[in-house]
Amino acid sequence: MSFKQVKIEDLQLNPWHAIGQDWMLVTAGDEQKANTMTASWGGLGVLWHENVAFVFLRPQRYTKEFVDAQPRFSLSFFEGHKKELSLLGSVSGRERDKIAEAGLHLTFLDGVPTFEEARLVLLVQKLYADELRPQGFILPELDGKNYAQKDYHTMYVAKIEKVYTAD
Ligand SMILES: Cc1cc2nc3c(=O)[nH]c(=O)nc-3n(C[C@H](O)[C@H](O)[C@H](O)COP(=O)(O)O)c2cc1C
Repeated sequence: MSFKQVKIEDLQLNPWHAIGQDWMLVTAGDEQKANTMTASWGGLGVLWHENVAFVFLRPQRYTKEFVDAQPRFSLSFFEGHKKELSLLGSVSGRERDKIAEAGLHLTFLDGVPTFEEARLVLLVQKLYADELRPQGFILPELDGKNYAQKDYHTMYVAKIEKVYTAD
């Protein structure tokens, strides 16, 4: 599959559907080693005069090590492929070659890893990262419900530099 670059203004995307229901892959690394994980929490918007994406990664995710090590990562969206995304969201790349098991194929756009099978790829550059804090919760039950293990997500704000769609 080849990709063509498109203008972000031309994108027709419902984030609640694309992220919350269809899910996305957060993928980072380089040509030597990359890893990916499924994410269904996050957002797309505008901050600091930039078009940005927000992603939330728990500390135990192997993918987080790759995101932290590189200035850029990708958000990949698919049509279908739910089975593959379920696998990539339930097995750690630390333990298994889950990308091969899922039957997806890594490819690189501007040196950033993504997947040949993606229908839409956002290449993003990290702008800001910080761990959520228990003191920040205005509704304390959210803390209790989501962080029983105290494994607070790191929130990343990343500038959307380029948008590619399957050609
Ligand atoms: C539908 C779905 C959505 C997920 N969303 C997130 C998320 O937004 N943030 C997160 O840290 N983990 C999320 N996960 C969990 C990771 O994808 C999962 O722990 C994965 O196995 C991590 O892989 P890794 O250790 O190779 O990075 C989600 C899992 C699924 C199945």
